[in-house]
Amino acid sequence: MTASYPALRLRRSRAQPWSRAMVAETVLTPADLIWPVFVTGGTGVRDPIRTMPGVERLSADLLGAAAKEAASLGIPCLALFPNTPASARSDDGAEAANPDNLMCNAVRAIKDSGANIGILTDVALDPYTSHGHDGLLHDDGRILNDATVEALVAQALNQARAGADIIAPSDMMDGRVGIIRAALESEGFHDVQIMAYAAKYASAFYGPFRDAVGSGGYLKGDKKTYQMDPGNSEEALREVALDLAEGADSVMVKPGLPYLDIVRRVKERFEVPVFAYQVSGEYAMIEAAVAAGVLERERGVLETLTAFKRAGCSGVLTYHAVVAARLLG
Ligand code: PBG
Repeated sequence: MTASYPALRLRRSRAQPWSRAMVAETVLTPADLIWPVFVTGGTGVRDPIRTMPGVERLSADLLGAAAKEAASLGIPCLALFPNTPASARSDDGAEAANPDNLMCNAVRAIKDSGANIGILTDVALDPYTSHGHDGLLHDDGRILNDATVEALVAQALNQARAGADIIAPSDMMDGRVGIIRAALESEGFHDVQIMAYAAKYASAFYGPFRDAVGSGGYLKGDKKTYQMDPGNSEEALREVALDLAEGADSVMVKPGLPYLDIVRRVKERFEVPVFAYQVSGEYAMIEAAVAAGVLERERGVLETLTAFKRAGCSGVLTYHAVVAARLLG
């Protein structure tokens, strides 16, 4: 027999802070946060991003200090994204495989600084292509899958050689996780992890990111032939199953808040580490609400991040990582 009101009063356990702490089911810590950082050329450059107030692109020389600060706050991992100059972009995105590209320089700068933090590198061609797509574009406008995968393997190996700890394919081509895994194994990178952007949707919320990496102005058309339809969730499970079978160590759902149901389904089905990406448009939305005076930043940020954990995430990629870690510290 279960108790009911008035014997049962759920407010009892909510009545005091100590009691609320005792029954808390979800506790957010800085170890749940992955900080995406935009990298630009030059030295001593802090370049504000117009569409993401509070976020700056940093030149490689500033990354060591930024990484150390993040590590001291308890953030376990950074995710790097390059703003490739127009002069280094091309139809085939060959710059992605250049051992001296912005990304590799950034990885080495962080490793050389001695910062005790993991480095995640994004694998996709969009920061390097002149058409802004994640893959190779055929004359007829199609994105070529298998040829793109070859380019992604070269990009992933390039990043691993520079010292990346986690390779994160965000391109949504078929078959790339297995082929990248095999290439990493054959070069001896047994300990380099793969975090697959497994369920990545063709979302309206990536706009500010494309501004930040400078690919938005170039993008022709949309990404619907490789990124997923926002209405689908069974397909997300199939994507995750495939990436795990191909050797992914962990999987990602992206964007974040509008897709927490996907996080939950993936977590329940596969019982593997699931991460979510609170993307640039979500960040911009929160900051716009704060600027308009309709949201308290601190509470809004911590509430959304806690919701990711409650849904089943092992961690969240968020541009608010440093802000949140300070609040939690
Ligand atoms: C590139 C990539 C994108 C993001 C991460 N990696 C953009 C896209 O797919 O167009 C978006 C991240 C964000 O919006 O914060 N493959």
